[in-house]
Amino acid sequence: MKILGIESSCDETAAAVVELRDDGVFELHSNVIASSIDLHAVYGGVVPEIAARSHIEHIMPVIESALRQAFESDESRAMSHESAQSSKLKTQDSYWSEIDAIAVTYGPGLGGSLLVGALTARTLAITKNKPLYAVNHVMAHPFATFLTSVPKSAKGSTLSRLLLPKNRPEFPMLSLIVSGGHSQLVLFDSPFEYKLLGRTRDDAIGEAFDKVAKILGLPYPGGPSIEKFSVNGDPVSHKFPRSRLENPYDMSFSGLKTAVLRTAQAEVGKDHRLPSSQLAGILTEVQKANIAASFQKVSVETVVNKTMLAYHEFAPKSVVIAGGVAASSELRKQLASRLPIDPIYTDIKLCTDNGAMIAVLGCFMAKAKLPIADPYSLEISPSLSM
Ligand code: KG4
Ligand code: ZN
Repeated sequence: MKILGIESSCDETAAAVVELRDDGVFELHSNVIASSIDLHAVYGGVVPEIAARSHIEHIMPVIESALRQAFESDESRAMSHESAQSSKLKTQDSYWSEIDAIAVTYGPGLGGSLLVGALTARTLAITKNKPLYAVNHVMAHPFATFLTSVPKSAKGSTLSRLLLPKNRPEFPMLSLIVSGGHSQLVLFDSPFEYKLLGRTRDDAIGEAFDKVAKILGLPYPGGPSIEKFSVNGDPVSHKFPRSRLENPYDMSFSGLKTAVLRTAQAEVGKDHRLPSSQLAGILTEVQKANIAASFQKVSVETVVNKTMLAYHEFAPKSVVIAGGVAASSELRKQLASRLPIDPIYTDIKLCTDNGAMIAVLGCFMAKAKLPIADPYSLEISPSLSM
């Protein structure tokens, strides 16, 4: 079974073809991502209107490229440009004949962004006569780790350079989903039976990294910038507060962000009246590094503590770390030293938003014969929860 996954919930336009082989292995045939991150960097965060416009420009080229990458034969790769152009229509049709179904993100995410992916998938499902599966983006994130193989013909390509896990996760699977838009801890007994143990009550952890980076004048996205800057800082120079919530699995990062702001203001001898936009120009490099390192340590410790608590309470067979923040070396270091089993990560290209995770969950839905979506009426759901 081969499924085309389409993702457009935030600033990445993505499509991928995933095969669920008869032996149960999930094989990645293509993975194409066009990011509009550079367009947003100047604003220090994603601008919804810019993201939606960028999706409109990129969605069809990204889908066509994902199909070409997956199905282009060696002969057509060797074809001259002109003959390749003349056979373009025919080959796109023959690629489509290989696709069994389409899976698309319908929420949560930015309304305008979701609409572009969902409307494109709906139109393709009608015109190409394919079943359509509507996928929850957050739920899909951990399923990227089920991809353990690429086709032999991909040798030497970017696909073959992806660092995929050797073995797929087993259920019960504890998933820490940490990105710019989400922070959740979910226990899956199967792909469709899960318990949301906890979630952030305010900002997502990646969002906190982005906001703290902005305060310190470090480039967007904040995670990698803070990681780089923290190397020269002292992680115990500042004692930032940890939130206490009624549900021990819930998280909160907005108080921590405000504590960082107040600390930065105090470091330069000012109070809360100093606008945060002026701090970056006054703080010394040492002050910035110390704040970055202390913030990174505490924010990562928060999600690691909750993961440990869940690990001991539920004894899962696998622990999966998903979302953009899974790239954090500090997170990987803390988990490695505290978890008794090796957590499962996938390549960073599959940790951040991608179409492959949507296609994997689509494969599970198709295999379980879950109801398909109506392509004439599927609605997006920007605030969809798990
Ligand atoms: O999954 P993702 O690409 O997009 C969302 O769905 O949100 O995650 C992006 C987030 C950003 O907030 C970025 O700052 C964070 O992941 N991030 C990191 C690191 N690399 C990316 N956070 C901490 N440490 C990192 N090394
Ligand atoms: Zn995401």
